[in-house]
Amino acid sequence: MTADLFDPALYDGVRRPLLDAEGLPPACYTDPAFHRAELERVFRRGWHMVGRLDQVAAPGDYLTATVGEVGLIVVRGRDGVVRAFANACRHRGTPLVEGRGSCAAFRCPYHSWTYALDGSLKGAAGMEQTRDFDMEGLGLLPLRLADWGGFLFAAVDEAVPPLATWLGGLPARLAAYRFDDMVATRVVDYTVACNWKLWVENFMEGYHIATVHRSTINKQPVVNIPEDPGGGAFVSIYERHQGTRALLVGDAGFPPIEGLDAESAAGSRFILIYPATMLAIAIDTAWSLVCDPLGPEATRVTVTSCFPRQRLARPDFGALAANYYKRLDITLPEDNAICALQQTGLRSPLARAGRFSHKERIVHEFDNWILDRVVGPASRPAAAE
Ligand code: FES
Ligand SMILES: [Fe+2]
Repeated sequence: MTADLFDPALYDGVRRPLLDAEGLPPACYTDPAFHRAELERVFRRGWHMVGRLDQVAAPGDYLTATVGEVGLIVVRGRDGVVRAFANACRHRGTPLVEGRGSCAAFRCPYHSWTYALDGSLKGAAGMEQTRDFDMEGLGLLPLRLADWGGFLFAAVDEAVPPLATWLGGLPARLAAYRFDDMVATRVVDYTVACNWKLWVENFMEGYHIATVHRSTINKQPVVNIPEDPGGGAFVSIYERHQGTRALLVGDAGFPPIEGLDAESAAGSRFILIYPATMLAIAIDTAWSLVCDPLGPEATRVTVTSCFPRQRLARPDFGALAANYYKRLDITLPEDNAICALQQTGLRSPLARAGRFSHKERIVHEFDNWILDRVVGPASRPAAAE
């Protein structure tokens, strides 16, 4: 690192209007100090998608997730309430569970302290001689959890505004899709050797499709239409096209979601809910795609497929759903590979910030949103784009 990455003057080029602007300096994608600042100033201070309500349908059902560097458990209690807790034993910090599952209580794998589904400490054998040992004060640490349309979001910091404020006009814009009525049918995790921002940037531009996806989704002609800001912490693209965007051309699928408005029925939407939650919404299915940084140069991407609940009752559900999964299984590795390749280029000491196409409006928006938080809102000119 040659310059002070927290000096706002370093980013004057990023702050210019899109067609005059430069991208982030390569060090923003590799530097451990910049990464640490993102964990503290971006991930700790926002809402992050952690799963679906229907994944914890019954008491005892749990899932694990990460918000920045905070591991958490989401679990439905015996009282039916879904809660989030830090996934850390109050004895010496060991995570209690991994993945997803169902249990009657959590038992720490280290010294067997046990916790009820409401987070309270129920057993701590071996602690009888410890003076002033306060079982009641040693429950799992609760975290903020909120849901919209069955999507669960968690926040670490008390100062983060309510989820409804964070989402702004997004729930109204997407009401016709009735996410509440959907069920998560498949979850796939990828570990990609790239900075999390590269993956988000790639997902939010269509410029690469003609090259990276030339023999797959590029076969479907689309018109890309930016949507208005919605007064929340999100950006949105609408793509108009024939049929569904969620299948490869020629594959059979489900009918459109019932009750879609004319615009939603004539295209797809790609949404970034800052900082790292994405939605891809087609006429017949919705995917969430969540980036979790594993370090400056590694990202876990969790992709969840959702369909309207009534589709699951169809005898051909498995056969048709497989076509949607096939589309993801072909195109996501294309994105993962190009992001990992890009990362290798950004690692070079000769790497420099580049310029933007008009097709990279959201990449520029996103980079500026990150800078507003990591180095401060500083000197961004108020020019129209
Ligand atoms: S760390 Fe959990 S019981 Fe010791
Ligand atoms: Fe892509």
